[in-house]
Amino acid sequence: MFSHALDDTAELRPLEPWRATEFAGAVTADLDNLKPWLPWAETVLDTDSARAWLQVFADGTAADGRRIYGIWDAGKLVGGTMFRVFDERFSSCEIGVWLSPVAGGRGLITKAANHMIAWAVEDRGIHRVEWRCEPANTRSSAVAKRLGMTREGVLRGAFPTRGTHVDVEVWSLLANEWRAAHLT
Ligand SMILES: CC(C)(COP(=O)(O)OP(=O)(O)OC[C@H]1O[C@@H](n2cnc3c(N)ncnc32)[C@H](O)[C@@H]1OP(=O)(O)O)[C@@H](O)C(=O)NCCC(=O)NCCS
Repeated sequence: MFSHALDDTAELRPLEPWRATEFAGAVTADLDNLKPWLPWAETVLDTDSARAWLQVFADGTAADGRRIYGIWDAGKLVGGTMFRVFDERFSSCEIGVWLSPVAGGRGLITKAANHMIAWAVEDRGIHRVEWRCEPANTRSSAVAKRLGMTREGVLRGAFPTRGTHVDVEVWSLLANEWRAAHLT
């Protein structure tokens, strides 16, 4: 199975349904941190619900659609990244992320997302990489900025959550922009 080293102890690997118990443990332990921004976190309650969630991504991978990866630090699952959307027809994808605060502040998410973008752009010829977050989620928008993305604007009231409709910031990076920043 492939893995990308993110630093001396952390690595990025596929997160597959057989890891459901480990995934459920990681998400429930970090629920207070994730719940405000990621409604899916509240649906990952135990092994069965975690397996069902991971199976959606396994099916997506089989259909060349959405995919999910985990970040392990010294062997412990501490976060992950996903192609929430991966659409070759439209040559676009959207990246989503989460990370336990115990592993925060090391650039693990930025590095993991850069691996994903490299694969999407260079291996798959994807033209547009998107990032969406609530305007109040400044730690998330800081990652988009660190990735070299451009803030395109705000979709007003676009996401129903917590009994209301929240605004959604849209950030993006185009293939030529990624290449200009990463290839010499
Ligand atoms: C959004 C989230 C994943 C960001 O995590 P993060 O640790 O801030 O992001 P990164 O891993 O990219 O780390 C960035 C930090 O590492 C530092 N850093 C150190 N080495 C670095 C490197 N080589 N490259 C980039 N950043 C580096 C940065 O300066 C930054 O520091 P800061 O925390 O003082 O600002 C995290 O806050 C989270 O999981 N939140 C809850 C879930 C969520 O909101 N998900 C997104 C929904 S849209």
